[in-house]
Amino acid sequence: MAYVNSVHFKFLPMSMRMLFTMVLMVFGPGYMMAMFQVWESHAGRDGNPMLSAQDLIIAYSGNKEGTKLESALKGPMASMLDDANKKVIFTWLHQGASQDKFNKTINPIMQDHCVSCHNAAANPNLPDLTAWAGVEKVAAMDTGVTLPTLVRVSHIHLFSITFIFFIMGFIYSHSYVRPLWIKCVVVSLPFLSLLIDVAAWYLTKLWTGFAWAVIIGGLIYGVCFAIMWFTSIWQMWFYKLPQELVDASGELPSIHGNN
Ligand code: HEC
Repeated sequence: MAYVNSVHFKFLPMSMRMLFTMVLMVFGPGYMMAMFQVWESHAGRDGNPMLSAQDLIIAYSGNKEGTKLESALKGPMASMLDDANKKVIFTWLHQGASQDKFNKTINPIMQDHCVSCHNAAANPNLPDLTAWAGVEKVAAMDTGVTLPTLVRVSHIHLFSITFIFFIMGFIYSHSYVRPLWIKCVVVSLPFLSLLIDVAAWYLTKLWTGFAWAVIIGGLIYGVCFAIMWFTSIWQMWFYKLPQELVDASGELPSIHGNN
């Protein structure tokens, strides 16, 4: 009898087919939940409810327009300052809000236009803009997920997804797919795109274009997951075996000829 790893589903013991099927039945909804979770935690950051590259850029590299100061000057404080001065402040924020430039150019603007209300004596509930300490807080940039968080999420992600795709690939390897290279690609791609995906989380901090690698990596393992899931269920229960396989007692052809 052939080694059980190298035979087609239909030649596996019934209990093993049941085991595989049940694992797939749980993995299917599990994958849906994972995708829903990605959607929930990322979509809409850019103001548009769809999930977009911009959402991922904001999640991983932050939002340079996301300071309290800028949103206030574009929102409730818009009438407190003329456009030219607003532009000076925005430019300063986008360049990293240095204390140096604050002292030279920004502080004078604030002294003229803001501190009449924004000082601790008059309004203890408003941000105090009389000095750097208070300004720093509203000028703090949203720099996205922090590195320690990324490291924590990556190691969980790398281990758990590898585990899932190992099981998926192991089950799927009992299917009959020609040409053989397609099967090899479907089994390997999830691991490669997992590495690319996780690397791109970090790289997006350096160059926002890498957000696309996150999206493409995610799509690739989604597609591979679907291919492995449907092929396995289909071949396990509904597939009519080709004669070649029946003749070989279900042994999947390997490089070593007919073993
Ligand atoms: C006439 C008084 C007044 C002046 C002048 C004023 N503000 Fe305000 N500011 C307020 C009040 C009141 C609030 C809180 C209510 C609100 O958000 O509408 C506020 C809110 C803010 C907030 C939001 C704080 C938060 O927690 O989100 C920021 C930032 C801010 N102001 C910055 C400025 C800047 C910069 C200027 C100068 C260009 C300025 N303000 C001028 C009265 C003022």
